[in-house]
Amino acid sequence: MTPPSESVAVDHEPVLTARGVFRFREAEGQQVPTVRDVSLQLAPREFLTIMGPSGSGKSTLLHILAGLERPSAGDVTVAGVDLGAGDEEHRAAVRRSKIGFIFQFFHLLPDLSVVENVTLPLRILGQNPRRHEGRVASLLDLLGVAGLRDRRPANLSGGEMQRVSIARALVTQPPLLLADEPTGNLSSKAGEEVIGLLRSVRDQLGTAILLVTHNPRDAAAADRVAFLHDGALRADAELTGGPFDVADVFRRLQELGI
Ligand SMILES: Nc1ncnc2c1ncn2[C@@H]1O[C@H](COP(=O)(O)OP(=O)(O)OP(=O)(O)O)[C@@H](O)[C@H]1O
Ligand SMILES: [Mg+2]
Repeated sequence: MTPPSESVAVDHEPVLTARGVFRFREAEGQQVPTVRDVSLQLAPREFLTIMGPSGSGKSTLLHILAGLERPSAGDVTVAGVDLGAGDEEHRAAVRRSKIGFIFQFFHLLPDLSVVENVTLPLRILGQNPRRHEGRVASLLDLLGVAGLRDRRPANLSGGEMQRVSIARALVTQPPLLLADEPTGNLSSKAGEEVIGLLRSVRDQLGTAILLVTHNPRDAAAADRVAFLHDGALRADAELTGGPFDVADVFRRLQELGI
């Protein structure tokens, strides 16, 4: 198995490229930028965290990178496909096949079992989950939820629900996983486990991960930490060469005054 980040060949096509992305919103009759001129690249197998305070535009940016929202200006390319090249159906198709997304509030379907939730994206792609049984079983194993496959979400802890939602996000083998504050609704112990699992996912499946968070402890687990302030990335302030000491992340936040 190829080792992670350090050995990523520089000539590999990025999994994610954003160029000059803006998102304006109407506020009190004015067009206000909530995302300002964001450009970034994510290499295959790379784990990047974007840190920013509440309201800095993290979710808006992530939704644009996932094709859930359109940028007011700029381009986003995922695994070589330009999200802006087509209509909503084009973006949905890219999302379904190339992007996994996890949320703070899990969004599992309450009437489906764990394994039915996890395999739902396969069914949406028109594939028979039975043909992927072995792979689904290893995925449940990797996320530590194999013993829970027949439970309903109501009978799971928060940490278990998030691990199931990570399995669901990965079941279509996307090259890119986007995570919006995935520990925001968990105890610190469960949150730590989830972040550790994201690293295992990257190491074992080779998925590139972009995590947005305001939690320095979560950010410290990444290869690279970028900082978002008032919708703009502080490109000069990026930390590289992670995982980091949480104290280093705190120090950089203090230096930046955010
Ligand atoms: N649907 C919306 N309509 C209008 N303004 C919005 C909408 N969603 C977000 N905003 C505004 O855009 C800005 C960025 O919001 P966003 O949710 O992206 O921030 P965030 O960094 O994810 O915050 P949090 O850490 O609280 O989740 C905020 O000022 C917010 O009030
Ligand atoms: Mg948010």
